[in-house]
Amino acid sequence: MAEAVFPRGFWFGAATAAYQIEGAAAEGGRGPSIWDTYSHTPGATEFGDTGDVACDHYHRWAEDVQHIVALGLDAYRFSISWSRVQPGGRGPLNPDGVAFYSRLLGALNQAGVAPVATLYHWDLPQELEDAGGWANRETAYAFADYARAMARTFGDQVHTWTTLNEPWCSAFLGYASGVHAPGRTEPAAALAAVHHLNLAHGLAVAAIREELGSAARVSITVNPHVLRMADPDSPADADALRRIDAVANRSFTGPLLRGAYPDDLLADTAAITDWAFVRPGDLELIHQPIDWLGVNYYATTMVSGVPPEPQLSGNGGHRASSASPWVGAEQVSFVTEPGPYTEMGWNIAPEGLATMLVDHARRFPTVPLMVTENGAAFADQVSPDGQIHDPRRVAYLHDHLAAVLDAIEAGADVRGYFAWSLLDNFEWAWGYAKRFGLIGIDFATGERTWKDSAHWYARLLRDRKLPE
Ligand code: NOJ
Repeated sequence: MAEAVFPRGFWFGAATAAYQIEGAAAEGGRGPSIWDTYSHTPGATEFGDTGDVACDHYHRWAEDVQHIVALGLDAYRFSISWSRVQPGGRGPLNPDGVAFYSRLLGALNQAGVAPVATLYHWDLPQELEDAGGWANRETAYAFADYARAMARTFGDQVHTWTTLNEPWCSAFLGYASGVHAPGRTEPAAALAAVHHLNLAHGLAVAAIREELGSAARVSITVNPHVLRMADPDSPADADALRRIDAVANRSFTGPLLRGAYPDDLLADTAAITDWAFVRPGDLELIHQPIDWLGVNYYATTMVSGVPPEPQLSGNGGHRASSASPWVGAEQVSFVTEPGPYTEMGWNIAPEGLATMLVDHARRFPTVPLMVTENGAAFADQVSPDGQIHDPRRVAYLHDHLAAVLDAIEAGADVRGYFAWSLLDNFEWAWGYAKRFGLIGIDFATGERTWKDSAHWYARLLRDRKLPE
């Protein structure tokens, strides 16, 4: 790391998502989403945890904004619950849902915190899933209508729109391995979902720009899989890396940033689908300029071409699923990365973040990057002094921010960094057992407590300089 000072205008933020924090699942006219259904399915989540109450942010939003302001965040990334503002995923907006986000946005703007609103962070209205979900092209059109309605309603209050969060998870954990909602294990549906999510992004970008003009700022957030080979000299491992890169990374960056699905992806998946769901004009829509590409980063993934032992599949869920998320790359096996590890079992590898940023900057030189999530779950405890001492999270954040500086130094145009997460929250299939927050939550009382990492982050945001 050469220079520990962040560029002028670099954003420091924190991120959350609606289903993970809001609670009030059946209040204020909210309709059910696939995560309500999934989390209420016996055995789907750790301890049967659900987002029914979560951090109760729906009622405590004003207090949470005070924390955001006290931390000194430049920007706050949150998601809009589609089924809260448009309960069945179509038709008239729900006034109570609109009022909730309007109050939140008003408070953020008044405090000078830039709101970054994600339109889809995994919580599809259940009615749309009942009609086929992301495997159905109609869902993309419904999403565009919803995006247009949000732009019309909140256009002057949202700084930057993010269409989708981590569409890889929506498609492959939702429809292939089934460890996320809606819990389907249909490889062909997962590939159709890939395309319909990409299409939904393209249609939404067009709709937002039609509503707000070309000055509207739009983005999408992906989760690049940062891949390493078990044996760098093995041709089989190189092919394994290529396959996972195709299905997990280039299936999104290809159409989004180059205007085409990669030939090798089409070949690898030819036995599963003929990709006839890609229609004339779709790729032009998907391949529109964006203001930045959001990238979420947590850990690296090591691949091998040596056939897998029978094992638990993939990542991202607490359940053992025999179905693979790696559609078209089922022959690839995964090798445990060297530690240290977080509570998720994910390896801590800040250099992977620098590599990923520099690699994206090189491949897509005109696209600014935003680290829209980075953080770690640790087994935090409230100490007898009432504080939460989380030195490992402080070190994690420090080292990953140093990696961001390294990438900037190497020429990557990185505009900001959002810590995941503002609050401990509902970690999907892992429920409340995994704590990612800068701010701890006592889920019995809802009480918020700043961890040492929150104090550290607030100091960093004041100094704009990474301490040694
Ligand atoms: C990515 C997701 O966007 C977020 O919802 C999740 O909690 C974090 N990763 C941690 O797994």
